[in-house]
Amino acid sequence: MPHPLRVAVAGVGFIGAVHVRAARLANAEIIGISGGDPARTRAAAAALHVDRIFESSEALAIDPDVDLVHICTPNHMHEPLARRAIEAGKHVICEKPLATTASGAADLVRLAAQAGVVAAVPFVYRFNAVVREARVRIARDAGPIHLIHGTYLQDWLASPDDYNWRVDRALGGQSRAFADIGSHWCDLVEFVSGHRIARVSARTVTAFPERLRGESNAFQRPSGGGQRVRVEGEDAAVVIFETDGGAAGSLIVSQVSQGRKNRLWFEIDARNLAVAFDEEDTERLWVGTRDRQETVLRDPSSLSPAAARYATLPAGHGQGYGDAFNAFVADTFAAVRGESPDGLPTFADGLRAARITEAVLQSAASRSWVDIP
Ligand SMILES: NC(=O)c1ccc[n+]([C@@H]2O[C@H](COP(=O)([O-])OP(=O)(O)OC[C@H]3O[C@@H](n4cnc5c(N)ncnc54)[C@H](O)[C@@H]3O)[C@@H](O)[C@H]2O)c1
Repeated sequence: MPHPLRVAVAGVGFIGAVHVRAARLANAEIIGISGGDPARTRAAAAALHVDRIFESSEALAIDPDVDLVHICTPNHMHEPLARRAIEAGKHVICEKPLATTASGAADLVRLAAQAGVVAAVPFVYRFNAVVREARVRIARDAGPIHLIHGTYLQDWLASPDDYNWRVDRALGGQSRAFADIGSHWCDLVEFVSGHRIARVSARTVTAFPERLRGESNAFQRPSGGGQRVRVEGEDAAVVIFETDGGAAGSLIVSQVSQGRKNRLWFEIDARNLAVAFDEEDTERLWVGTRDRQETVLRDPSSLSPAAARYATLPAGHGQGYGDAFNAFVADTFAAVRGESPDGLPTFADGLRAARITEAVLQSAASRSWVDIP
């Protein structure tokens, strides 16, 4: 029997720990982790029962014992670490944003193709069973799409005392809220609708021009203390867009919307039906027609086969973000084994997100429509 896939995880804050658990569930062996702060990395290693801590993420990325590298560090390290891992012949799962510039992301797409490695980006909302059902129904029943609209709202940066490395453009990149979560929304609606966003007109909002710079991982409350620093990136963005398939759309992205935790919501209105999905209620898909409004349950016995594949528990036994993440990692490992799972988000999708992000920033700066290459 071949040895289990040997993986290592660079960065073990909020999402790195999710990667470790998902990789274990998909039968990988965790060779080791790396972190930014020694004490916190030791604590993470103990909590996750990982024996080996690499001296650096750079060393982890090229270690001969590792087949696949998970990159879960702050954004500015994604591109150099992914480059290093690919050049060492590793398969890579690199967190979004794949790179902080579209040209950097394009380089990675090229390098990964040349090396022939599996190179995936965790646009994991694709792996909700009812999202797959929406995709099937849009392709099969919807007819021409008129409108694509929605929001992605969070509140974990809703106070000027909230801080995370994402706020610092040197670590997070030029865009914050849009690159961080708007990119997920765009990937998801393009995946479900089959349309591509062709041009955007955007405005960005910086709710807090100063923040108290403290130390905390994503989604954690600030520990207090720190200095007031100027903030340049956006807390929110308002975008209208047109697609290559003739639809119009709108999106509001925000990390300062009180009470909203992870409200990724979209609706697609087409000639024959509409579908709506809410990430905070992943057990249901709304499907509407003029005569009938239906709540489709995440029930493996009634979903289409392409969707039922991701409904691993019976209806009523809630599946959510973690399950979608596990499915993404399992499908990536299947691709390493030579399988071709449908809908695996790759570096090409990471590049697409980087291009849309740049167009949004450019549009907000120039107050004009910007085409997406
Ligand atoms: N796909 C998704 O759904 C999803 C969800 C959350 C985060 N992310 C992405 O994952 C990445 C990490 O985000 P997070 O929410 O876990 O942030 P986080 O703040 O919780 O954790 C980041 C961790 O990286 C560590 N770090 C800093 N420098 C490092 C280095 N040189 N080597 C290794 N680790 C280092 C920090 O100590 C911290 O523990 C970001 O790029 C983010 O966009 C993706």
